[in-house]
Amino acid sequence: MGSQRYQITGLDSASSLLGHDKLMIGLLLKFFINMLIHIGDTLFIHFQKFRTNLGRKKIINSCRWNFSAVTVTDVYVILNRPAEVINGKWRTTLNGISYIPPSTPLKLAQKFNISGVYKLDFPNILMNRPAKVDTSLINGTFKGFMEIIFQNNDTTVQNYHLDGSAFFVVGMDVGVWAENSRSTYNKWDDVARCTTQVFPGSWTAILVVLDNAGIWNLRAQNLDSWYLGQEAYLSVVNRNQNENSLPDNTIYCGLLSSLQKDQTQRGVKFSSAPLILACAAFIR
Ligand SMILES: *[C@@H]1O[C@H](CO)[C@@H](O)[C@H](O)[C@H]1NC(C)=O
Ligand SMILES: *[C@@H]1O[C@H](CO)[C@@H](O)[C@H](O)[C@H]1NC(C)=O
Ligand SMILES: *[C@@H]1O[C@H](CO)[C@@H](O)[C@H](O)[C@H]1NC(C)=O
Ligand SMILES: *[C@@H]1O[C@H](CO)[C@@H](O)[C@H](O)[C@H]1NC(C)=O
Repeated sequence: MGSQRYQITGLDSASSLLGHDKLMIGLLLKFFINMLIHIGDTLFIHFQKFRTNLGRKKIINSCRWNFSAVTVTDVYVILNRPAEVINGKWRTTLNGISYIPPSTPLKLAQKFNISGVYKLDFPNILMNRPAKVDTSLINGTFKGFMEIIFQNNDTTVQNYHLDGSAFFVVGMDVGVWAENSRSTYNKWDDVARCTTQVFPGSWTAILVVLDNAGIWNLRAQNLDSWYLGQEAYLSVVNRNQNENSLPDNTIYCGLLSSLQKDQTQRGVKFSSAPLILACAAFIR
């Protein structure tokens, strides 16, 4: 980070000259403008560096990840495109599926074996069928090695975030990803991250080790397109180990709302509004 950009010097003399409010507003403006420039720079430099680094010979070899010998267990090519109208509403999609959160939280549905709340059928590639709204999860393999290629068919940069595991960005390029794009991957000094950029008309490939059981959110960071459905969940089940039991204050919603304990018994007064909010937060 360009720390010099954020340095504030001569605050005392300057504040007596300018007046404190004006100075603070000025400093805040400067901070935000610098931050924007910095973000822009980082994106650009990162893209340039990545493209020139791929294929370049490396000398330093110690303390780095080397994925060359890894066997990938699942491959997903996930395509986004500009918002489209599905059932009369503007929606965004991943592989033609616009995510809709169920009224029964995913994790509760899984824990209580309630079928029909979600499906584990998120497609590996864009299917030749009309786009739809659905609660479709990616079926991950515990301790598997997943390769995800984000293909951006929109005209804006997409930022994707994955909960639950850090991943490694192994490649990115302009154009449409193909099997032989793998030959350009950098597999041995990647940096662990949880968010990555995908440039317009370009692809970005990540590798992720699924060693953290749970149901994890994979989403676009842009709030508008995330809200419109540009997200999916990744389910990873460890069949050999029971998960911790649910905490006492779990909020049961949807099909499990009959299990909801009376919150007032515990000396906490809930009006209905915060309870609904908490419920909604749990669904997200
Ligand atoms: C990475 O591992 C592969 C296969 O095990 C090996 O051939 C290669 O030399 C390694 N690369 C580096 C840079 O250590
Ligand atoms: C859900 O199903 C699993 C495996 O079939 C079982 O071990 C578990 O006890 C079930 N849980 C509930 C709450 O019924
Ligand atoms: C999900 O993947 C597991 C292996 O991790 C497999 O046993 C299971 O059948 C899959 N479920 C579905 C619905 O495809
Ligand atoms: C999106 O896909 C369409 C159809 O394949 C193609 O014509 C268009 O160039 C793509 N746009 C971007 C930005 O990738």
